[in-house]
Amino acid sequence: MQDHSVEMRGIVKRFGSVTASDQVDFSANAGEVHALLGENGAGKSTVMSMLSGVYRADEGEILIHGKPARIRSPKDAALLGVGMVFQNFRLVQTLTAAENIVLGEKSSFWRGSKWIKQKHEEIDALGEQFGLKFPVDRPIWQLSVGEQQRVEIVKTLYRGADIIILDEPTSVLTPGEAEQLFETLRVMKQSGKTVIMTTHKMKEVLASSDRISVMRKGKMIATLATAQTDELELARLMVGREVTISRQEREATQGEPLLVVNRLEVSADHGRKALDGLSLSVCEGEIVGVAGVAGNGQKELAEVLTGLRTWRSGEIIFDGSPVKTASVRGAIDAGISHVPENRMKSGLAGRLGSVDNLLFKSYRTEEHSKFGILKAAKNRLWSQELVQRFDVKTPELDTPVQQLSGGNQQKLLFAREVSHKPKLMVAVHPTQGLDVGATAGVHDLLMELRGSGGGVLLISEDLDELLQLSDRILVIFGGAIIGETDHEHADREQIGLMMAGIRHKEGSAV
Ligand SMILES: Nc1ncnc2c1ncn2[C@@H]1O[C@H](COP(=O)(O)OP(=O)(O)OP(=O)(O)O)[C@@H](O)[C@H]1O
Ligand SMILES: [Mg+2]
Repeated sequence: MQDHSVEMRGIVKRFGSVTASDQVDFSANAGEVHALLGENGAGKSTVMSMLSGVYRADEGEILIHGKPARIRSPKDAALLGVGMVFQNFRLVQTLTAAENIVLGEKSSFWRGSKWIKQKHEEIDALGEQFGLKFPVDRPIWQLSVGEQQRVEIVKTLYRGADIIILDEPTSVLTPGEAEQLFETLRVMKQSGKTVIMTTHKMKEVLASSDRISVMRKGKMIATLATAQTDELELARLMVGREVTISRQEREATQGEPLLVVNRLEVSADHGRKALDGLSLSVCEGEIVGVAGVAGNGQKELAEVLTGLRTWRSGEIIFDGSPVKTASVRGAIDAGISHVPENRMKSGLAGRLGSVDNLLFKSYRTEEHSKFGILKAAKNRLWSQELVQRFDVKTPELDTPVQQLSGGNQQKLLFAREVSHKPKLMVAVHPTQGLDVGATAGVHDLLMELRGSGGGVLLISEDLDELLQLSDRILVIFGGAIIGETDHEHADREQIGLMMAGIRHKEGSAV
């Protein structure tokens, strides 16, 4: 029998009527990258949270390096060498990277400059060894998402973790950052660590893991050697039936200009310029992709267009009329919908149920209320129908949406944003955290919206998604559009270069 570094046997976890983990057996070995796959809500995060002490199992046992382990808190897990990097980082924004890493560490009463220097050196050495670079003495809020993730990983290593769990680590990374992360995982593996990672990106899984375990509806379905499987088999195991990967037909559907933005200048939260003379347009029936590395103005662009942020100069013309002031209400009434970057921060109210979240933007309309009183029964039916149509898995209509799995939250948000047939949808990373089936569903919806004459501004870091869906791809860098290419002439490499700020070569894309 092999000596597993992690072994979970018969693990059961129930949340009310939902059995999130149903007699799950799982094992991982030192020196391997083990991927955990499954549809949204399959139970991946739940199982990993039990290994890392966030949840306690109702039944079953966990062995670490062959010994029965009592994991009742993240601290217990840390002492056993288990560290988890969550999808929503748990860093203190105002503290520096180094302070976050040593946080909670027992130390002498006096932390002099010598102590700090020594800690910085230890952190630098770990970063060096595993290829995890970030500015050690800058506060977290100044770091990019990729850098923050590196801080989280170094934090687990610093605390001596040899079993490292990463929950959807690449869904927030740019393609370049993801490559770097995989290099780090290779080094971890070589140094004998156990790496367990959940993800929805099959190509990544196939390229970077040694073994793959697949969960479906709370059950562990199979564990396979990566070298002996492929995308289709994995999809079939995840979904539980044959899967066909459909190719969309695309016909030109472009109509009149719907959104025209001219020389827009916008300030960021910290005063510096976020958009610096940005111009673009979206026509009816057109999907315009905006490619770029996070932090180049995408967030501010989406906010301005959806009425969440004001602009300094320049003009926005929507549906033929100039937009005068930033107003969320105004944007909604004009027919602009928004799938924001951070669904729990600005898209959904976590403590409310599905009905309230679905009604968020339309409760004032005649369809949903009369004389200021909500049509409760009708709204429930309407919500029920949307939840079914968009395949949102929720125990009850009133279950607080923060208890839904990540992918199901995204589906709910999407359901709301397309339910009123928007003229323009501003979608920021719309398939982040979605499984294969749900991703295809969102892509179909965007194409449907396009087909019915709606415009879509698709802001994404996922080049595959942009290439597949966009009629035109614009590259944003430093708050301006520095390049443009159409669907036929889109060239991955060229776009990648432009994302890094390197302008096109002579004679290539405009
Ligand atoms: N704290 C909680 N309270 C109630 N139900 C929960 C809680 N956490 C998870 N669940 C439920 O357990 C099931 C499994 O969720 P989990 O988050 O483990 O799925 P997942 O495989 O990680 O999905 P995703 O890919 O969408 O992140 C879901 O049905 C979810 O609604
Ligand atoms: Mg999850």
